[in-house]
Amino acid sequence: MFALNALRTAIRVQSALSPSAAAIRALSTATAASAGSSAAVPDVSKLSFNTLLVSKPTANVGLVTLNRPKALNALCDDLMSELNTALEHFHADPTVGAIVITGSERAFAAGADIKEMQPLTYSKCVNTNFLAHWTRVAESRKPILAAVNGFALGGGCELAMMCDIIYAGEKAQFGQPEILLGTIPGAGGTQRLTQAVGKSKAMEIVLTGDKYSAQEMERAGLVARVYPVETLVEEVVKKASKIASLSKPVVQLCKEAVNASYEMTLKEGTHFERRLFHSTFGLKDRAEGMTAFVEKRGAKFTDE
Ligand code: CAA
Repeated sequence: MFALNALRTAIRVQSALSPSAAAIRALSTATAASAGSSAAVPDVSKLSFNTLLVSKPTANVGLVTLNRPKALNALCDDLMSELNTALEHFHADPTVGAIVITGSERAFAAGADIKEMQPLTYSKCVNTNFLAHWTRVAESRKPILAAVNGFALGGGCELAMMCDIIYAGEKAQFGQPEILLGTIPGAGGTQRLTQAVGKSKAMEIVLTGDKYSAQEMERAGLVARVYPVETLVEEVVKKASKIASLSKPVVQLCKEAVNASYEMTLKEGTHFERRLFHSTFGLKDRAEGMTAFVEKRGAKFTDE
């Protein structure tokens, strides 16, 4: 009885997050559509943006480079809308298994655009639901890796935290300096930072507005790994390419299971995880992965 209730709760919570069945259906539809015609997805070189550069550094990775150098990649409304469009593109491209977001060597992003925000009023913020369209990155079904060089401040740090893995160049600086501007983080900073580094460290970061080095943030658990500035993007693309070479439905289920840990109790979460684990036994890729191990050869995943 308890197991049934736990499963119902898990399914309810999961549906609120990102419905697995619907997600898997959508994934199979996309895969089926792509198997028939990948011509539906325009070539990435045909996309042009005012504030971004997009490319495919490998056949299976989409790269988005934030490109407002004069404003240290401040996240203006236009940039966030274009970022959503670029992500939609890479989601629709069945050859892309992982996405990398980066900036320049000087700045990943120095925060929300303060000049754009400066004249805003409370009523305008509420009436336009200001920052609501920033959540697309966190809702991605494909893994997104942040390659952070230079400043990742305020909304820049929050954007990195919406990604699944944060890699940093050795001179990167992280911080939530909103308090110095008379405001508070508004794109998940108080929530995701606390989950990543714990209450005491998160409180220090948001209450002082100080900047923190890549090395300190790696020790604190926010950053997965630190690389030399010049090789960061290349190394992160390699990691993304490795993830993208694995079974796409399994990668998606695995990401969903980790994200569920933010929303569920340990009992619900482990139950949910076990059910997702069971569900992989319905995939050809699970059979192929284990058979390849037994036959001492590399696995050939087909995303089925
Ligand atoms: N918004 C708009 N413009 C910005 C910006 C931002 N967040 N950050 C930098 N810029 C602009 C500067 O105004 C400057 O433009 P001009 O040349 O036209 O004057 C240009 O980028 C270069 O910046 P600096 O001259 O200041 O460069 P620096 O090397 O001396 O300092 C910095 C770099 C420490 C990052 C500094 O620019 C800075 O403190 N930026 C603001 C950081 C910040 O407060 N971020 C939080 C924003 S609020 C937020 O993000 C809310 C949220 O939760 C969503």
